[in-house]
Amino acid sequence: MNYPAKVKLVDVGPRDGLQNEKQPVPAEVKIGLVHRLQDAGLKEIEVTSFVSPKWVPQMADNAEVMAGIQRKPGVRYSVLTPNMKGFEAAVAPAREFWPDEIVVFGAASEAFSQKNINCSIAESIERFAPVVEAARAHGIYVRGAISTAVGCPYEGEIAPGRVELVARLMKQIGVQHVGVADTIGVGTPLKVQRAMEAALKHYDINDVSGHFHDTYGQALGNTLATLEMGVWQYDTSAAGLGGCPYAKGATGNVATEDVVYMLHGMGIETGIDLDRLIDAGKYISDHLGRKPNSRASTAILNKRAG
Ligand code: HMG
Ligand code: MG
Repeated sequence: MNYPAKVKLVDVGPRDGLQNEKQPVPAEVKIGLVHRLQDAGLKEIEVTSFVSPKWVPQMADNAEVMAGIQRKPGVRYSVLTPNMKGFEAAVAPAREFWPDEIVVFGAASEAFSQKNINCSIAESIERFAPVVEAARAHGIYVRGAISTAVGCPYEGEIAPGRVELVARLMKQIGVQHVGVADTIGVGTPLKVQRAMEAALKHYDINDVSGHFHDTYGQALGNTLATLEMGVWQYDTSAAGLGGCPYAKGATGNVATEDVVYMLHGMGIETGIDLDRLIDAGKYISDHLGRKPNSRASTAILNKRAG
């Protein structure tokens, strides 16, 4: 099997993870997590989202978090901006606080699009178009997320053709990269391969990524299955944080620690120091008052404790 020699991981824990926490997490703790992730060697971190604070109060401190990060050269910082209001807020401060990358997030399921962003798939593309144009005019890279790419909490199984449609629409409006997201973690390797193939009808292999929630314990298998296709970019979450407030019961993203352990074991480079990553995951888990949701982290922490 011809696996990629290098993989880029985007840690989405500060955003995907912390958006779903019941307890408020202070901005300084979020900033502390971002600092630990970049010190562990992560080259991209999804920091926060510029969405309605009424819908997702956990991300209401977006500007404070972006302003508080001591940026590390070579690290990219991304944020979610679903509409012009969000984009304008993201670029309102001085340039040094702008994100390097923004994410517009659509869905392969109509019902999920309505629940998550309060509009149809077609309307979401209309909202994204000016955001994409403005971002590119500002020199900011644009990533798109295709949620519910294999299954939807409201519509059930999603056909690959739905993913292809959203990928095509995103390509038409100038989205530069798409992430195939298994929002509720129901996907299994062959289904996730079909969803990825659908995105690859419109995007190059270098412009796609996998975003797999681990609800059913399939995310590592799904990662391996898409690595076999040549995919080399993934969103993962330190300590397995994550979920979506509009996808009840869905658990976190696959733990960054578990993916790094697997990749390093396969001889694939990530540039990440697993020990420091484990410290980052432990830092946020300690704050949340629970153990990291990562098997590799548990094993290594047990070993450290002797
Ligand atoms: P809307 O209600 O359709 O928008 O929201 P609206 O234009 O009618 O505005 C309603 C109110 O929201 C107004 O305030 C606006 O000012 C305000 P009011 O007049 O009532 O006081 N508003 C905003 N405030 C701050 N920032 C903004 C913004 N936009 C409007 N950008 C909207 C549309 C998308 C904003 C809303 O539905 C929303 O915020 N949804 C939350 C979506 C979200 O964050 N979901 C979780 C992240 S996605 C995810 O987790 C999936 C992913 O991980 C991939 C995967 O796993 O599938 C990416
Ligand atoms: Mg997600």
